[in-house]
Amino acid sequence: MKKLVLLFITFSLITFAQNKIVINADLGKDTISRNIYGHFAEHLGRCIYDGFYVGDTNKVIPNTRGIRNDIIQALKKLKVPVLRWPGGCFADTYHWKDGIGEKSQRPTIVNAWWGGVTENNSFGTHEFLDLCEQLGAEPFISANVGSGTPQELAEWIQYCNFDGISPMSNLRKKNGREKPWNVKYWGVGNEAWGCGGHMSPEYYADVYKRFATYMQGNSNVKLFRIASGPYGDNYNWTEVLMKNIPLNLIEGIGLHYYSVIDWNNKGSATNFTEEQYFKIIKLALKIEEYIEGHSKIMDRYDPNKKVALVVDEWGGWYDVEPGTNPAFLFQQNTMRDAVLAGVTLNIFNNHCQRVKMANLAQTINVLQAVILTDKEKIILTPTYHVMEMYNVHHDAVLLPSTVISDSYKYGNEEIKSISCSASKDKDGKIHISLVNIDSNKGKDVQIEIRGQKISSVSGRILTSQKVQDHNTFENPDKIKPKVFTNAKLSNNVLNVQLPPFSVVVLEVK
Ligand code: AHR
Repeated sequence: MKKLVLLFITFSLITFAQNKIVINADLGKDTISRNIYGHFAEHLGRCIYDGFYVGDTNKVIPNTRGIRNDIIQALKKLKVPVLRWPGGCFADTYHWKDGIGEKSQRPTIVNAWWGGVTENNSFGTHEFLDLCEQLGAEPFISANVGSGTPQELAEWIQYCNFDGISPMSNLRKKNGREKPWNVKYWGVGNEAWGCGGHMSPEYYADVYKRFATYMQGNSNVKLFRIASGPYGDNYNWTEVLMKNIPLNLIEGIGLHYYSVIDWNNKGSATNFTEEQYFKIIKLALKIEEYIEGHSKIMDRYDPNKKVALVVDEWGGWYDVEPGTNPAFLFQQNTMRDAVLAGVTLNIFNNHCQRVKMANLAQTINVLQAVILTDKEKIILTPTYHVMEMYNVHHDAVLLPSTVISDSYKYGNEEIKSISCSASKDKDGKIHISLVNIDSNKGKDVQIEIRGQKISSVSGRILTSQKVQDHNTFENPDKIKPKVFTNAKLSNNVLNVQLPPFSVVVLEVK
């Protein structure tokens, strides 16, 4: 009888609810790696200098060995798990020995990719690894393959990771660091098909094997080597790499993808139409198709999922803010970006079997940044708040969910309006992250939790009056998470009311 009643309830929910989610709380098996919530810091524009680093002689902005204290404080709340550095395109021009030793002796170079500006190398390996230690984040060093050599990389690894006596560990000690840092994550080049050397996949696969062969012997820790991967739907790149690189030489393949309307006319970050909003979110959702496409290829060569898909660059890319250097990629960040981040992170969570790391581009003052700085001031962007709200998913077990959603239509096109992912943490708490993509209409969503009795629900919401809204230095807290009270629990079913373009994270126990 009880079963019949339950069956009837389920049937009526499916029949009458337009937006309906079923979460199986007892069927989780895959862990959402916290590294999915990783970040990326390139020597580009004001990300490192003016962003993370103000120099160790700066008396105006409070810092620890040159690294801004306010930035560390803000990023600690995100629990940044991993930070990729020094690029990007910059990585394949970077010779690490330029950035070690006495600062006044370090050579000044030209940042050829990003505006031809002077790079004085005052932020190098020691400073980056100090930053990671201050953050409590794992470093991910992207090595120079395009214009570097296997020896240069092997020596960098020995410098960072070798404990015994060797030329590079001795040099590290001479430069003030006794113990190795034990850097696990190493990128073998960046965008090898483009700024990393314009290589064919066949050629890069050979180059990769050559570099990867000489990496391991110089390290006390087992390295996680990440090959420069495809962009978007370049499935041939993945196919060739998986076919040609033996599984004992590779731990991860990168994937880069930016949501950009038109590379020649990207549009403003803040002043956009509904059509542009729709297009960007539709483009962001595309990453699910790409992840599935690359995973399918990887499954054929690596059915045990040993090799990770590492989305080491993602985010929205718009025109730079008026009056700023076009090569610095400085853009504002609105509720559109919060929606973009929310749906993308839900996709990563839901594909955590293969996606083991991702790095939002980029942390400060560049592209879809989580923090913007203006001299001594900082602001937290809507994307920051999404990252902070979603950190409950770090290392939690993904719960399978089925989403039946109505559509958000624009012109002749439509996309699903509700995005969701759910996980159970080590204390048994369930977190459900929801996004209402529709920029015009609020949505009623019924969420049925199966396999666990639920007795309470609480939550937080990020939304605003207009989808173009953003935080400014004059009004830094315009957008920030608020307590969410529009989720009502009855018979293990949550009835949730989501406002337009909102991101909500629920906690149920
Ligand atoms: O993130 C900005 C640039 O975008 C990176 O340097 C490069 O890898 C990509 O093309």
